[in-house]
Amino acid sequence: MRIGVDYYPEHWEKERWKIDAEMMAKANIKVVRIGEFAWSLYKPEENRLQFQWMDEILDFFREHNISVVLCTPSATPPKWMTDKYPDIYQDDIHGNPKIFGTRKHYCFNSETYRNFTSSLVEKIAKRYGQHPAVEAWQIDNELGWANTTRCYCEKCRKEFQHWLKTKYGTIEKLNKAYGTVFWSQIYNSFEQVIIPKAGACYDTCHDTQGQNPALLLDYYRFSSDSVIRFAKESIDVIKKFSDKPVTSNFLDAAVNSGTGIDYFKLSENLDFVSWDNYIEFQWGIAEAATVSRDHALLRSYKKQPFWVMEQQSGPCGWSKMGPAPTPGKLRLWTYQAVANGADTVVYFRWRACPFGTEQYWHGILNHDGKPNRRYDEIVQTGAEMEQLSKSLGALKPTAKIAIVKSFDSEWSHSIHKHVENFQYDQFLLSFYKPFYNMGMPVDFVTPYDDLSEYSLVIAPALLMVNEQEKNDLESYANQGGTLLLTFRSGVKDKNNNMLKETVPGVFSELAGVQVEEYDPQFQKVTSSSGVYGKGLSNLWCDIIEPVTAKTLGVYTQDYYAGKSSLTVNHFGKGDVYYLGCDLDDSALQQFMKYLCSQLKLTVPLYSIDGVEKVETTDGKHRVLFVMNHNPYPVIVPLNYIYQNMLTHNQEQGTVSIAANDVALLNLD
Ligand code: GAL
Repeated sequence: MRIGVDYYPEHWEKERWKIDAEMMAKANIKVVRIGEFAWSLYKPEENRLQFQWMDEILDFFREHNISVVLCTPSATPPKWMTDKYPDIYQDDIHGNPKIFGTRKHYCFNSETYRNFTSSLVEKIAKRYGQHPAVEAWQIDNELGWANTTRCYCEKCRKEFQHWLKTKYGTIEKLNKAYGTVFWSQIYNSFEQVIIPKAGACYDTCHDTQGQNPALLLDYYRFSSDSVIRFAKESIDVIKKFSDKPVTSNFLDAAVNSGTGIDYFKLSENLDFVSWDNYIEFQWGIAEAATVSRDHALLRSYKKQPFWVMEQQSGPCGWSKMGPAPTPGKLRLWTYQAVANGADTVVYFRWRACPFGTEQYWHGILNHDGKPNRRYDEIVQTGAEMEQLSKSLGALKPTAKIAIVKSFDSEWSHSIHKHVENFQYDQFLLSFYKPFYNMGMPVDFVTPYDDLSEYSLVIAPALLMVNEQEKNDLESYANQGGTLLLTFRSGVKDKNNNMLKETVPGVFSELAGVQVEEYDPQFQKVTSSSGVYGKGLSNLWCDIIEPVTAKTLGVYTQDYYAGKSSLTVNHFGKGDVYYLGCDLDDSALQQFMKYLCSQLKLTVPLYSIDGVEKVETTDGKHRVLFVMNHNPYPVIVPLNYIYQNMLTHNQEQGTVSIAANDVALLNLD
């Protein structure tokens, strides 16, 4: 475990670099990420390349023993390029080009752009592939950020038609899959197929574009594939000249919720994954549980240690700022990342830049570059990481519980959300939180992952699965696994069309239930009662008819009072639960406790709000992180005597933890 910073040497006078490197060394900063927006420095004109500036930077860091993550600068195509080759621009949903002046204005399907990118990446990789300072590579920057995964230009239309031809073979098959007989949308050839820009009904359909849902889902898949192909092209070029690992920085789900890229698929091409973690900034404040969930996603995408590539380190915002991180938070956020499976945490950014769009986006240092309170906190954190890494390898929690995350379902839910206020991402989070509260780690999986290591698999609102995924879930249950399905599971086919089978469609036999009627909770709340105590639903109520299943909860209100809200069905050696409604936080917490008790998973009898507990291992040692996210001190009870690895105190009976502080207890 170690720390690093995002650094922009090109923003500062060279004379300053030495001071920065010395201050970094004092803080045990081991790695800098550089160069992700520097295209016009490498190539100020179409036929002029310059590398001397980067030669100097890399040599400088080698001399100072700080290793480098070198980025490909494709997030910022320069002005000479957009002027001469305007076809590289991306079009927005209304068909207007995204103009020069910010960043990420390029189309992933522009051949011109892809060629320019590959050619520059090749030159960079050739020149620096063996440079001793370079320890890793980053592709682009936050692929898909700011709604840039989906482009609506002519180049994309052509590529999409090609993609469809490969997928469907004949236009008749596409017409059938899309149900184009509806609203007279039958296509005579692939060349006629549109891309789903804003249509005539756009303004009246506030949560969709009113376009054909099957077409939309395919377009979302195609767009994700286009980004993944673009990334792969850069990765392949780098691999020709360097054997150093390649990553790309993902976006947080906490505030930005979804880039439209299938991160499981993108991860397959990367050597390790990383993400950007902003917690309290202009665009929102994330709860500690949400950040923990985001870390859990990252450790799940590739099932290995990940990095935080940009960790907030000061007050942040473009036009206005979020709060200054209160003392202790930078260190606490670092430990939260490490506890949940990160092995490197890189702070954004070293020093606030006095010019440009992000002049209010503070780093560790303010604009004046002087050591400050935040720097002191990073010095402390760096020293602790250095010390801990002498005895510990990369740590990770061992989860017995998994939540299925399906990008197909996420995108389908974003096209048609089924009921006001339903958000797939938030619904998944609602199942993560009860375990977070109990200090029980949760991984995220796809339906096609090996699930055998998990005692409990939760598949919230898993709208659609293919035959293989259905079989995998069935055999998981058959072999003794416990599966929890919820309303809006198994009701659609992979074309994003409703199935004709009675709800829950493909999962009816597995769940042993039929749902002939459901009641979307539009501006109403319905109560129920069951093994979860009293429950309140404000999204959805399936009126469940058990077939082979047994009832564990019933509605207590409305015309379906007395009908089942929750059931369990024995399937092979396993159990399949079907939750027909959403539940308020306390009922859901109670239900998850019930499931744990059925599974003989030990749940703590006692927990403290705002205290995150994560038990981790590096394969040899076991360490319990106890993190106090509260603005006040807490006293946490302990069952045994532990060595506190940070204070070296023996903790017996209780451990006192200050506001925004952490205790690391050695469980060996
Ligand atoms: C990230 C981005 C950085 C910087 C930062 C602050 O999303 O990767 O380059 O822009 O936000 O806005």
